[in-house]
Amino acid sequence: MKDLGTVNLSADDWDEQNFPRPNSNDFDNVVERAISRRGFLSGVLAFGSGAAVMGTGLLGSTSAKAQEAASRFAFSPIDIQTDFDVHVPQGYSWKVLVRWGDALMPAAEGYDITEGGPVEGSDMVFGENTDGMELFAYQGHELIAINHEYTNRGTNLPAAQEGTPANAADVLKLQNLQGVAVMEIRETDSGWRVVTDSPFNRRIHHNTPMTIAGPAAGDDLLKTDADPTGTRCLGTFNNCGSGRTPWGTYLTCEENFNGYFGANDAPESAHAALVAEGYSRYGIGTEGWGYDYHKWDARFDTAVNPNEPHRAGWVVEIDPTDPTSTPIKHTGLGRFKHENAEVVLAPDGRVVVYMGDDERGEFLYRFVSNGTYRTGGPTDGLLNDGTLYVAKFNDDQTGEWLALTPETTGMTPAEIAVFSRIAGSAVGATTMDRPEWIAANPHAVEAYCCLTNNKNRGVEPNAGGDETPVGGPNPRETNHYGQIVRWRPFNDDHAADGFDWDLYVMAGNPTVYNNVYGGSSNITPGNMFNSPDGMMFDDNGLVWIQTDGDDSNEGDFEGMGNNQMLVGDPVTGEIARFLTGPKGAEVTGLTWSADRRSMFVGIQHPGGSWPDGDGLPRSSVIVVKRDDNGILG
Ligand code: FEO
Ligand code: CA
Ligand code: CA
Repeated sequence: MKDLGTVNLSADDWDEQNFPRPNSNDFDNVVERAISRRGFLSGVLAFGSGAAVMGTGLLGSTSAKAQEAASRFAFSPIDIQTDFDVHVPQGYSWKVLVRWGDALMPAAEGYDITEGGPVEGSDMVFGENTDGMELFAYQGHELIAINHEYTNRGTNLPAAQEGTPANAADVLKLQNLQGVAVMEIRETDSGWRVVTDSPFNRRIHHNTPMTIAGPAAGDDLLKTDADPTGTRCLGTFNNCGSGRTPWGTYLTCEENFNGYFGANDAPESAHAALVAEGYSRYGIGTEGWGYDYHKWDARFDTAVNPNEPHRAGWVVEIDPTDPTSTPIKHTGLGRFKHENAEVVLAPDGRVVVYMGDDERGEFLYRFVSNGTYRTGGPTDGLLNDGTLYVAKFNDDQTGEWLALTPETTGMTPAEIAVFSRIAGSAVGATTMDRPEWIAANPHAVEAYCCLTNNKNRGVEPNAGGDETPVGGPNPRETNHYGQIVRWRPFNDDHAADGFDWDLYVMAGNPTVYNNVYGGSSNITPGNMFNSPDGMMFDDNGLVWIQTDGDDSNEGDFEGMGNNQMLVGDPVTGEIARFLTGPKGAEVTGLTWSADRRSMFVGIQHPGGSWPDGDGLPRSSVIVVKRDDNGILG
């Protein structure tokens, strides 16, 4: 999602681009250490030399010299673009797979989005604003589970309403067009298509029944009049990034859930102090963000249902292979504005889940299960019975995971789950520059997190009053460009409580600045970007980086063009631009076909009339292939 608090998300809120900023600051020495080749590339090379980290086209070669001699990327990087189209390198091509409003089921064939689409059928079509996705190969079928993060109300509702729901049917349509889709896809002679009559196809939306599991399940904080058990709820909200478990299920992550709630009256009784603090910390106000659900659907009126917001903000597990399965909200993974959920296994089989909380000055989290996973073994409790941690980064490029327990926080297990942010503040977690996607390198014991930007770094505390000092992995005041932090757990064990960290890249503009705002040494005039957001490793160990930033191509952002997808080599730090999106869009969501000869890329909130060339812009998934049908990832 483009940014917090913006409701018409095709527009930028990047007013801060004209803010004055210092040419240098007291923390430049920290920055130098964190980004210099001496400080991190040598470490990367030492680290990578023992790992099978190979770029496309270099399989089998392990010497640094061989890597130096050959291109690590099987393409020529492309220039920036400022038009309303998608561009890929020479030798590659792209096609649309599926657009907002396309039928996922036969009964929705002919759904017409010309005027924003009718409510009838809106729960059987591809939803709006595609985001995280994962492909599952199952018994010869290829199934994509994919998020529909939010709606552009100005597009979904009749134009005359200017984005304001006029009745309960409008709200129901918006609720239907968000959530998750599961769809079978198949490659034919004319390219990939959605198999609309597949029994696997499913839409999960804001009214789909779910169960609640883990430490907060059944707690008073989750009980409502409609669900006195506190274990059954409706809907998954603002589904942003994704994850997948080793046992083949899909994880969808609820991000800006607060925007759907409002209050038509004052609550009947005052909130308990912790609940009131939670409302403030999570941004749950009386107006919402313009979805106006509370005006037409009492479930979202917090004056009537003060605990309903506690039933959103979770990671939700979905079995994409069983369309009758009930999604599960795992409260063990904490409640915050979840970006994605990157699951790895510790050497002893414990399940480790890395998660970012995408808000200015919020935290980076890790969950470690008590139990262990064995292929084909039981999975009950693996996402709930365990410990939630927050990251603390030290300026000496070490860090530690701080456990959130009753002892460390003074809160109950249910309170820690529901108010994870407050628990993180209690233990002194590091306030971060908006943690977006986290990706673990499949060829090395390390993980990366996009810190997309933070105009408030060094300027304002977070919503809980925690200071946001300039330093560590957040080394720039008023950070408009973003960076990617990487950590390597001690003992090559993702369950270890200590780690080393460095910055893989600091985005910046070296044509405008010759200071820290010019970016790290692996940023050049030829690969500039801002606001890294989506991120995923391919099977070769290359990291794909998607952006959601300022695409004005002016001022501080001149030379960066439209939002884009780049690919990075973890070993050398090299980064090259692979794809550019249409103006207005962010590029988010990435997965591969089972044979890795097709790559599926999400284009969210496009501008103009993309992709059709006329009519409303339609968020879509595209397929990228090599013209020689070679492997790409
Ligand atoms: Fe939905 Fe933080 O992006
Ligand atoms: Ca973003
Ligand atoms: Ca994002």
